[in-house]
Amino acid sequence: MDKQIIDSLKSRYAVKKFDPTKKLTEKQLENVLEATRLTATSYGLQLMKVVLVNDKDTREKLVDCSFGQRQVADASHLLVLCRERDFDLDHIEDYVQNIADTRKVEADSLSGFKNGMAKLLTKRKEDQVSWMDKQVYIALGNLITTCAIMGIGACPMEGFIPDEYDEILDLKSQNLASVLVLPIGFPAEDDPGAKRAKVRRPIEKFVIEK
Ligand SMILES: Cc1cc2nc3c(=O)[nH]c(=O)nc-3n(C[C@H](O)[C@H](O)[C@H](O)COP(=O)(O)O)c2cc1C
Repeated sequence: MDKQIIDSLKSRYAVKKFDPTKKLTEKQLENVLEATRLTATSYGLQLMKVVLVNDKDTREKLVDCSFGQRQVADASHLLVLCRERDFDLDHIEDYVQNIADTRKVEADSLSGFKNGMAKLLTKRKEDQVSWMDKQVYIALGNLITTCAIMGIGACPMEGFIPDEYDEILDLKSQNLASVLVLPIGFPAEDDPGAKRAKVRRPIEKFVIEK
């Protein structure tokens, strides 16, 4: 298993050209989305959502606000990882209620935890946003690894214009803001990314022992 994970991580790479004819099965897609849902988040608050863009025309429009990166339209599926625009006590109370229902405990018994989370609301808006963004990056990492192990190609992308994505996907109305884009699918035979040797710092320059 250890070798399998390392081999998968060595063979994965950021796909530059997807084969538009190769599609994930429904089960593969379901597993990828489930792996994202299972991502750890700070406090477990999950102030994020995944938008799955299925409409072909919309995906073509998104290429224009992704600096022409065709992966957005050509991959089997397109995931847009979003955070909440803002959050309030309702988000926290919903989460506390979810814990109470799932674990069959009284919501009142969680008041200490709830009050701890409520302190997040006193942070500056930009700090809240930066904290939520970080959670989305954790989900991205989880997604890339999941895809690698499942033999699915992916290209993590920051190269897009979030405001334009938010407009095209009408994200504001759902209190969402796009943070990252992840086209997933299978690489084209002539994908230039496939031929490039993986470049990483050598382990001795990466791990510092004290
Ligand atoms: C957060 C993040 C954003 C990235 N944005 C883009 C992007 O917009 N377009 C792209 O082609 N690759 C993008 N990449 C891919 C990186 O360039 C790539 O992961 C890196 O060069 C390492 O290569 P490898 O993933 O193929 O091993 C991004 C990667 C990460 C983690």
